[in-house]
Amino acid sequence: MAMNMILLLFLLTVSAVSAADEVAFIGVNIGTDLSDMPSPTQAVALLKAQNIRHVRLYDADRAMLLALANTGIQVTVSIPNEQLLGIGQSNATAANWVARNVIAHVPAANITAIAVGSEVLTVLPNAGPVLVSALKFIHSALVAANLDGQIKVSTPHSSSIILDSFPPSQAFFNRSWDPVMVPLLKFLQSSDSYFMLNVYPYYDFMQSNGVIPLDYALFRPLPPNKEAVDANTLLHYTNVFDAVVDAAYFAMSYLNFTNVPIIVLESGWPSKGDSTEPDATVENANTYNSNLIRHVLNNTGTPKHPGIAVSTYIYELYNEDLRPGSVSEKNWGLFNANGVPVYILHLIGAGTVLANDTTNQTFCVAKEGSDKKMLQAALDWACGPGKVDCSSLLQGQPCYDPDNVISHSTYAFNAYFQQMGKSPGTCDFKGVATITTTDPSHGSCIFPGSGGRNGTITNGTSTAPSSNSTSSGSPSQYLYRGDFFISSVIIGVVFLSTVFL
Ligand SMILES: *[C@@H]1O[C@H](CO)[C@@H](O)[C@H](O)[C@H]1NC(C)=O
Ligand SMILES: *[C@@H]1O[C@H](CO)[C@@H](O)[C@H](O)[C@H]1NC(C)=O
Ligand SMILES: *[C@@H]1O[C@H](CO)[C@@H](O)[C@H](O)[C@H]1NC(C)=O
Ligand SMILES: *[C@@H]1O[C@H](CO)[C@@H](O)[C@H](O)[C@H]1NC(C)=O
Ligand SMILES: *[C@@H]1O[C@H](CO)[C@@H](O)[C@H](O)[C@H]1NC(C)=O
Ligand SMILES: *[C@@H]1O[C@H](CO)[C@@H](O)[C@H](O)[C@H]1NC(C)=O
Ligand SMILES: *[C@@H]1O[C@H](CO)[C@@H](O)[C@H](O)[C@H]1NC(C)=O
Ligand SMILES: *[C@@H]1O[C@H](CO)[C@@H](O)[C@H](O)[C@H]1NC(C)=O
Ligand SMILES: *[C@@H]1O[C@H](CO)[C@@H](O)[C@H](O)[C@H]1NC(C)=O
Ligand SMILES: *[C@@H]1O[C@H](CO)[C@@H](O)[C@H](O)[C@H]1NC(C)=O
Repeated sequence: MAMNMILLLFLLTVSAVSAADEVAFIGVNIGTDLSDMPSPTQAVALLKAQNIRHVRLYDADRAMLLALANTGIQVTVSIPNEQLLGIGQSNATAANWVARNVIAHVPAANITAIAVGSEVLTVLPNAGPVLVSALKFIHSALVAANLDGQIKVSTPHSSSIILDSFPPSQAFFNRSWDPVMVPLLKFLQSSDSYFMLNVYPYYDFMQSNGVIPLDYALFRPLPPNKEAVDANTLLHYTNVFDAVVDAAYFAMSYLNFTNVPIIVLESGWPSKGDSTEPDATVENANTYNSNLIRHVLNNTGTPKHPGIAVSTYIYELYNEDLRPGSVSEKNWGLFNANGVPVYILHLIGAGTVLANDTTNQTFCVAKEGSDKKMLQAALDWACGPGKVDCSSLLQGQPCYDPDNVISHSTYAFNAYFQQMGKSPGTCDFKGVATITTTDPSHGSCIFPGSGGRNGTITNGTSTAPSSNSTSSGSPSQYLYRGDFFISSVIIGVVFLSTVFL
């Protein structure tokens, strides 16, 4: 009897949240507030080149859905907040929306979810009372079209509706919204859907006034004394993302819903900000998104639900220059409008998302603020043992000006990097070099790798480069000069094994 009870409890525990996809995926949000928004064909070419198999649109744009047709890419379409009141008040309006924006496109476009509104309870609270009706009306139109099995209906929430979110075990939804949350969760549960949550550790970090360490927000290892422990559950939290997702699980279970899986519909980090946003940097954005992708694809789950997939859509594909607000608002993208990556994610791995630089347009440059002596040593090495053709740097040649060590070493570093097929570890030079997507060519000084096109790519998505150069032999031929290259290789390897494993 006791055994049976234990077994039963065990089975209940295992079945909780089991509806989540077995394998987590990474998707990408596609905002379109760009002055030079790529055509749908170009955007889809970029998705394909980057092996992005899941996208979320902020509407149900016809041209975009046509471009996505027959690509196998799974699409979450959205009902913009402006349309929510109409749909929530009229079953016919809802049915009409589904007919026009969903039924007209499936099965060619693989629409797998409809996000009804966006952060409605925090952004448009007066639509809160019709939110659940809107979901139900949309769902019944899907039922009528026999599409409810393949298309989930949900609504994304800001994590700010979760109050007291640390420790996660004490989290609860703002009780003012119980009249919406309870029927909403009932609907998600009965329709086998998921809870959509937007998770922005960047904002949590910014608003914490130093309480949240940057490393904790960026999934970087913390010293044990800084790890966050939930005193009630004794669960250890090593990053903000997991803590927020667990807070949502706990907030749901506080309302007695224990089997609604979570999907993170938006998460990311801005790569640029104004002077009040010093942590919106390329390095932090790269670290956050690279670590997030690895965390999600590893199916790590969260401390409360280890191994349970928390699929996540990165915010966002493109930088949106037309978005109002601070500088950072415009700089959440992984790519510029021309398809050039804003940064190259620290990811490797065949067949995985966002792992490849598809543009060929990456360059190796001297790092700003580097020690001049180290730059000179690295320059000497590159033009000597490194076998870079530095003749363009001679007086009277195109790259002589400006005649300074930063400019010359940038030329030589880049030439070496290109000659080595841009393989990992070849743009380091003891830490004084860094990779950029901005073409350093100037005037008649055309850098190797730029193709002489002033660093812009007409169509955004050229084919993936082969990562190995044909021109150079095995790296061992470069090992003879002192310890210089050896140590940069070692740094590269250490870097790879810490970041990639
Ligand atoms: C659409 O996505 C689902 C996964 O949700 C997959 O099972 C199905 O094969 C896909 N359909 C097409 C036509 O690609
Ligand atoms: C709403 O419309 C669907 C068909 O689209 C129908 O099956 C359902 O019964 C309607 N629901 C209500 C509440 O009128
Ligand atoms: C809870 O939600 C209500 C209604 O939107 C809002 O007025 C209140 O400020 C929220 N409480 C907190 C602590 O955020
Ligand atoms: C959750 O379930 C418990 C036990 O059945 C009950 O006492 C409690 O009132 C329920 N809470 C809510 C919010 O329904
Ligand atoms: C991957 O998952 C395993 C267990 O499933 C865990 O031990 C490991 O730390 C995870 N790695 C990362 C990078 O999250
Ligand atoms: C990335 O590049 C590797 C090696 O060049 C290749 O095997 C892999 O298929 C590429 N992945 C994508 C998504 O293109
Ligand atoms: C490239 O740069 C040169 C000079 O810097 C300029 O004259 C030319 O118009 C540029 N080409 C394009 C395509 O922008
Ligand atoms: C750019 O894209 C357009 C249409 O998308 C195509 O017609 C054109 O050939 C492309 N140009 C290059 C250089 O690939
Ligand atoms: C990428 O670079 C390689 C070698 O630098 C070159 O052979 C190839 O043509 C380039 N591809 C594109 C699309 O520019
Ligand atoms: C690149 O070169 C390394 C070592 O020379 C080799 O192990 C790897 O398979 C090569 N990768 C490709 C894509 O050719």
